[in-house]
Amino acid sequence: MSNTLPTLAVLGGTGHEGSGIAFRAALAGCKVVVGSRAAARAAARAAELNAQAGSNHVSGAGLIEAAQQAQVVVLAVPYAAQVATAEQVRPALEGKVLIDVTVPLKPPKVSLVQLPPEGSCVKALQDRLGTGVRVVSAFQNVSAHALMNPNKPVDCDVLVCADDPEAKTIVRDLVTKMGLVAIDAGPLANSVVSETLTSVLIHLNKTYKVPASGIRISGLR
Ligand SMILES: NC(=O)c1ccc[n+]([C@@H]2O[C@H](COP(=O)([O-])OP(=O)(O)OC[C@H]3O[C@@H](n4cnc5c(N)ncnc54)[C@H](OP(=O)(O)O)[C@@H]3O)[C@@H](O)[C@H]2O)c1
Repeated sequence: MSNTLPTLAVLGGTGHEGSGIAFRAALAGCKVVVGSRAAARAAARAAELNAQAGSNHVSGAGLIEAAQQAQVVVLAVPYAAQVATAEQVRPALEGKVLIDVTVPLKPPKVSLVQLPPEGSCVKALQDRLGTGVRVVSAFQNVSAHALMNPNKPVDCDVLVCADDPEAKTIVRDLVTKMGLVAIDAGPLANSVVSETLTSVLIHLNKTYKVPASGIRISGLR
């Protein structure tokens, strides 16, 4: 595992999942830049995250500035904004690892799997951005609620899918340093499994009246 921590930009870091990832990364000692369509909103969220994490590792910026400042970029916006947000920052992503956490949910029926015609939306984003951006799929099955709870370790595994082996290793290292278990789940096309599982987890949360169900892979340890 690498000893160095990358600077992380979290586009959509003002929201639920992005804040949770920023929070755990800050706790791990990463420098984090929250990216938002409104730089002031990003700065305000960064201040809250620093207060919660007891750190000064988090700052805020506009989307492009955030991506420019980072070595690894996280895309954590709703599915409807996934492609437009990635394309807006595309020049700042060249050669970088992009962790896409997007799930192709179509509200209001979010507990029903409704894949787009192309299948995995993360694989579709890689095809759209080209191989100059090293897209990695992760975190689709980790709830924001679990990430933001400072009193509990996150009790679930993170499926990590990528076509670029080095990019996958960088993300698995990062996930591990954030205190979660990273599982190599194969090529980016396998992200379709993570993306569909999320609706099942949302269904479980409703059915069993729990805030944050997750997954554990057995037989590996
Ligand atoms: N919530 C979870 O537990 C969870 C778990 C796993 C995966 N995910 C996935 O993570 C992604 C983010 O989910 P979330 O629950 O964090 O979403 P969210 O809180 O609704 O939104 C995240 C951020 O995206 C930006 N955004 C919202 N609407 C937008 C639009 N129309 N165009 C551009 N930017 C927009 C906003 O940032 P600014 O307004 O500051 O720009 C917002 O704070 C989704 O793809 C979701 O499926 C979520």
